[in-house]
Amino acid sequence: MHRLIIDTDPGEDDILAMMMAYQHPNVQIEAITVTAGNVGLVNTTNNVGVMLDILQDDQIKVYAGCAGPFVHKPRDASNAHGKDGLGNTGYRSSRPIESTHAAMEMINRFTNEPDALTLVMLGPMTNLATALKLDPELPHKIKRVVVMGGAVTGHGNINRCSEFNIYADPEAAHVVFDAWGKAGKLIKVSDWELTSRNGFTKEVRAEWDALNTEKSRFYTAISAHSNRFIEEVRKRTVQFFADPVAMAVAIEPDIVLKSEQHHLAIEMQGEWTRGQTTVDWLDLYSDTKNADIVLEIDNGRLHELVFAALR
Ligand code: BDR
Ligand code: CA
Repeated sequence: MHRLIIDTDPGEDDILAMMMAYQHPNVQIEAITVTAGNVGLVNTTNNVGVMLDILQDDQIKVYAGCAGPFVHKPRDASNAHGKDGLGNTGYRSSRPIESTHAAMEMINRFTNEPDALTLVMLGPMTNLATALKLDPELPHKIKRVVVMGGAVTGHGNINRCSEFNIYADPEAAHVVFDAWGKAGKLIKVSDWELTSRNGFTKEVRAEWDALNTEKSRFYTAISAHSNRFIEEVRKRTVQFFADPVAMAVAIEPDIVLKSEQHHLAIEMQGEWTRGQTTVDWLDLYSDTKNADIVLEIDNGRLHELVFAALR
């Protein structure tokens, strides 16, 4: 059984990822911590509640965390995900949010049950970086960390070489990757380039719509804006859903067909390169490795996991 803490900034692709985890027979979602990212914290927190309402779950607790990045001004992705993060559908939830800060709750849970829980990071890494500043031992307490983040050969989605989650808070990402390297631990990295090698065609998405379940109707509604953005602004019909790919790696580790372990460092300066995930591919320039970079997955299994989530 994979027991997950999910840190997230929904975003309809975060929602799809969490629905994949929720329906999986070998997965238990222990808690959801929320960060600002795709949109502001009020909306991202609401959106987790909306999803849990649709799933009719009354067990999973939700913890709100950081409302913005460490150093620089927030940069959201509402152009792709809508002002509310759910494609401007306006879904609201009245679900109560826990009073403990997300970073504190991470520390509590990972300390109470060392080496038992997997952390899945689907948004900017501000909450985890904050928790690390309070508890530097965290890398030794978390069983596995799977991150949706980065563009490991510089094919970005927010500037020419950076991926949104890292770009949104590079200082936080630096704190996290640096700490894991110093602890001699690896972070599993599911990056944007892996995402773009595992896109979902219009035809596949039409099959999801055709399921016509409550879950699929919800997903069709909240993803319509993002699908339009992809077609009209990005001029392509294949949709790249980053968080579901990362979640597949987290909940079925055997889905990974090829990965490489190297040192990954975050560019925090750079006129053109801020937020870039630079990788020491030849292992020449660093003494440690901190990243297990996923390069290939079983694409058929990914499709099955998404389908099962919406059925
Ligand atoms: C990541 O950025 C967000 O817009 C998505 O939710 C995903 O986590 C992809 O770069
Ligand atoms: Ca996300």
